[in-house]
Amino acid sequence: MEHNFGANVHIMNHPLLTHKISLLRDKHTGTNEFRQLVEEIAMLMGFEALSDLPTKTVELDTPIETAEVEMLAGRKLAIVPILRAGLGMVSGLTALVPSAKIGHIGMYRDETTHQPVEYFCKLPNPIEERQIVVCDPMLATGGSAVDAIDQIKKHGGRKIKFICIIAAPEGVKRLAEAHPDVQIYVGNLDRCLNENAYICPGLGDAGDRIFGTK
Ligand code: PRP
Ligand code: URA
Repeated sequence: MEHNFGANVHIMNHPLLTHKISLLRDKHTGTNEFRQLVEEIAMLMGFEALSDLPTKTVELDTPIETAEVEMLAGRKLAIVPILRAGLGMVSGLTALVPSAKIGHIGMYRDETTHQPVEYFCKLPNPIEERQIVVCDPMLATGGSAVDAIDQIKKHGGRKIKFICIIAAPEGVKRLAEAHPDVQIYVGNLDRCLNENAYICPGLGDAGDRIFGTK
C-alpha cells in the first residue's frame, strides 16, 4: 500500500539496512546478535539522518601542505533515547558523533490501554540550540514518540529528528501530524498494528529482545 506522509517523513529502505532489519525480525536471533544489529542499524540510519550537520572550514597541516578542510561545526548534538529500547541505539549514534550529549526519557506503554506512561526525563541543559536526535527502535501507535517530543519541546528543544528502525503506518501518521516540524527517519515501514498494538510483521518487543527480559 502506498502512503503519503509528507515531506518530513523519510522511509529509508536501503538494501543493507533492510537486510539487517530482517535479521532482527527473525525470532531465532538471540540477544547478543540482536543488540549488535541494533547498534549497526542505528549507525547506518544516523549517517543518513545527520547528513545536513553543519561544518566549518579549518586550517591544518597535512603531511603534504597546509590545507583548508571541513570539520563539524560546534559540539551541539543531543541524543535522546526513549527508555528502554532506545538505549540500544545510543552506541551506534555516539560512534558517529562522540561529542554528543545524551538525555533520557523513560516511557512505557500500559499493557491494557497501550497509552504511554512517562517515568523519567533528564535532558542536556541548555537544549535550545542543540540538534536533538530522539531514538527508539519501534514506532507503533506513536503515543510514546509524540509524548517524548512534547516533553523535549516543553524543555525548550526546537531542532528535533526522530529515528526508528521499524514503524507502523498508524504511528508515522500520528507523529508526523502531531510534530510536522520533526524530521522522521524510518528504517522499514511495516503493514499494520495488531489487536495488542504490536507492529506486524515487526520484531516483537524490542526492549525485551535487547535486554533479554520477558
Ligand atoms: C516500546 C518501544 C516504544 C513504544 C512504541 O516500548 O520501544 O517506546 O513501545 O509503542 P507506541 O508507539 O505505541 O507508543 P515499551 O513501552 O515496550 O517499553 P520498553 O522499551 O521499556 O520495553
Ligand atoms: N513496542 C515494541 O517493542 N514492539 C511493537 O511491535 C510495538 C511496540
